[in-house]
Amino acid sequence: MAFADEVKSRLDLVEVVASYVPDLQQAGRSFKARCPFHNERTPSFFVFPERQTWRCFGACATGGDVFSFVMATEKLAFPEALRLLAQRAGVPVPQQRRSDELHPLQQIHEAAWAFFQKLLASRQGEGARAYLAQRGLLPATVEEFGLGLSPAGGTTLIEHLTALGYRPEAIVAAGVATQAEQGPARDLFRGRLTFPIHDGEGRLSGFGGRALDGSEPKYLNSPRTELFDKGRLLYALHRARRSMQQDGEAVVVEGYMDAIVAHQAGFRNVTASMGTALTEHQVALLRGAARRVVLALDADAAGQEATFRSLETSWQVFQDQVVARLRVGTLYQRPAEVSLRIAVLPPGKDPDEVILKDPAQWERLLREAQDLVEYLFVTAPRRWPLATSQGKAQAAEHLYGIIAALGNPFEEERQLRRLAEALGVSLATLEASVGRPRPRPRQRGAAAPPRAQASASPFEAQRRDALEEYLLALLLQRPELREHARSLPPQLFSSGEDREIFTRWMRCPTLEALQSELQEELRQRLDALFAFSLPPSDLRQREQAAKECCFRLQERHLRDLKEEEALMLSSEAATEESKAQLEQQVVETNERLRSLFLSRPERRRDR
Ligand code: UTP
Ligand code: MN
Repeated sequence: MAFADEVKSRLDLVEVVASYVPDLQQAGRSFKARCPFHNERTPSFFVFPERQTWRCFGACATGGDVFSFVMATEKLAFPEALRLLAQRAGVPVPQQRRSDELHPLQQIHEAAWAFFQKLLASRQGEGARAYLAQRGLLPATVEEFGLGLSPAGGTTLIEHLTALGYRPEAIVAAGVATQAEQGPARDLFRGRLTFPIHDGEGRLSGFGGRALDGSEPKYLNSPRTELFDKGRLLYALHRARRSMQQDGEAVVVEGYMDAIVAHQAGFRNVTASMGTALTEHQVALLRGAARRVVLALDADAAGQEATFRSLETSWQVFQDQVVARLRVGTLYQRPAEVSLRIAVLPPGKDPDEVILKDPAQWERLLREAQDLVEYLFVTAPRRWPLATSQGKAQAAEHLYGIIAALGNPFEEERQLRRLAEALGVSLATLEASVGRPRPRPRQRGAAAPPRAQASASPFEAQRRDALEEYLLALLLQRPELREHARSLPPQLFSSGEDREIFTRWMRCPTLEALQSELQEELRQRLDALFAFSLPPSDLRQREQAAKECCFRLQERHLRDLKEEEALMLSSEAATEESKAQLEQQVVETNERLRSLFLSRPERRRDR
């Protein structure tokens, strides 16, 4: 049994809660009290002994298991709560790295960082300091953002770190040196201006390095490591958090320099996407930080196109998460709607230039930022030839997804009508052309049946997400089943949160590793999955259930595909050529469905 499960199995939630909440009283099959997490007169906090879960049906609308309860009351992170409860349950804690001790790779980062900073401050750093001054950075800003200079030699950093006692393999693993197939390792950053990059909690994760001599690439970043994944980080987010919370607004620029100059000028709610289009992870980070997001975009059309393409997925996944959370967790609370606006920069200008030259212009740009959907409507004629049926189909395909993910059914309806009108087609034609008739049941969170009902019988035809939720709960609560889902493509999970948890669970060695790796937001979902009550079953039944769920997910996916292909075929937007292609696809999908059924797990008939 996993350590966390072991601890849980030895504790009674009612008893644990009672020790914190003296007025907990039995009420039928559950216990209730005034919620310890918010002020109230009448009790809306419940503990369910059979499920070993708790929930506040009042203002805070949260719930979970014994871990989440102790985390919330004691204000602890999961690992600490686990340790505390292990003590209480008398389960010996397996030896663990102390959480206040730095990760070994992080120690190397810290040492490299100090080295870079020292070099920038030294005589050798004179030229680089002059460059920074010329870019408008004050010495205090350089200090605050921890900028540095990497030695040009090629092995100087490695030598320094080796002298400090770090092994070459570890230095390479940390990503500050590279190892060619043959020959010795070399410093990754050579003669570059270095920007330390922290995660949202302010932990050093890696570096960006700007060339000072015009060499390519202009910026070099730490390679992807255990600690560094550009797509999951936002530059300077940890410095911007407080200001984002205060203003309720987060501003996203592209470059390191842009973010630094913004902060220096007092615009402290600014973070940088580091040049890539926003990923869904970055969108999730932003969502946790502010209710309004403004994206500062280049005037350049090609750059914008990439951003919009990425938003079609990242923004939609994000809205799906909101809906999923509404459905699963917070029963009576509407999700906070997050707005996304676009501020377009003057042609050829980066934010740092605008801010340095005219801060008032920057403020004006942000104030006048246009709502994303508005902006998409305005720019549509520039992006597609809307007079042709092919252009119409493309515009519909691209805009539909974003509109259908607005999260507010009335607004969706309004914008879809508007889109149809802009394209000069009927709403029905629009929907047919994208192969996605509205309303999609899974996006109508509020109207969905309550969860307990949906999970009663996992194998009935049911709402989409109940199936994946059930499978994921099964895989997490019964880790021995994980192997059965190995070959399942993560895309089959329609909720972004579940997809993420599934992907990570497939590569995490233990549940503890998964728990400590997950960010706060996902952790709540994980708690919900752990709290999901599964019917009692033996191993064979559980295996059967897992296989059946995997089968269903694949079947569902292929049927969806078929449906969409059929709609596409019947739509007037399809050309002869694309029709032939589609027909071929239909054949293939049918073939895949057929072979899926051939490989179908044997069904139990003894019930
Ligand atoms: P920019 O080219 O706009 O750079 O790329 P910048 O930050 O404005 O830099 P300056 O003003 O020329 O000094 C925006 C961001 O894209 C990433 C970096 O994070 C950069 O800040 N980028 C850019 C790379 O990672 N590699 C590159 O080669 C270029
Ligand atoms: Mn720039």
